[in-house]
Amino acid sequence: MRAHQILVLSVAVLISACVSLGPRSVVPYGDMSKISGVPVERLQRGHGIYLTQCGQCHELVKPEDLKVADWRLVMPGMCWNAGLAHADEALLLEYVLAAKSLDEGKKKALPNGRAL
Ligand code: HEC
Repeated sequence: MRAHQILVLSVAVLISACVSLGPRSVVPYGDMSKISGVPVERLQRGHGIYLTQCGQCHELVKPEDLKVADWRLVMPGMCWNAGLAHADEALLLEYVLAAKSLDEGKKKALPNGRAL
């Protein structure tokens, strides 16, 4: 595959990811970073990997859809599926768990226990 074809393909993947996620894909990296203790820059990189690599074979599975223990179990195999390096796997897991903890933090913050 030539370089420009790869570029066109990745732009198409990015656009379709944005369209399918809609307005909820605006990620509050700052809050996520505060709750999880992971630097914003690492969260952004992890999120980028998530959007581009994890919706290739199936719909993106949302961080809140799986328990923490299940994410830890599933992630190595899925990263292998996507052909990711271990460093990228670490970024991805940090992002997913941080997004999940943000969601749970918000749930706890609301008196009726509802998610935002
Ligand atoms: C090469 C194709 C492929 C890629 C790329 C891929 N997956 Fe999957 N994924 C599958 C298949 C096939 C299944 C269902 C069978 C299985 O569990 O192995 C699945 C299932 C899952 C599940 C469901 C597990 C459950 O028990 O509900 C999760 C979560 C998941 N993938 C996350 C991811 C994430 C995160 C990424 C990005 C690193 C990713 N996948 C990339 C093929 C892929």
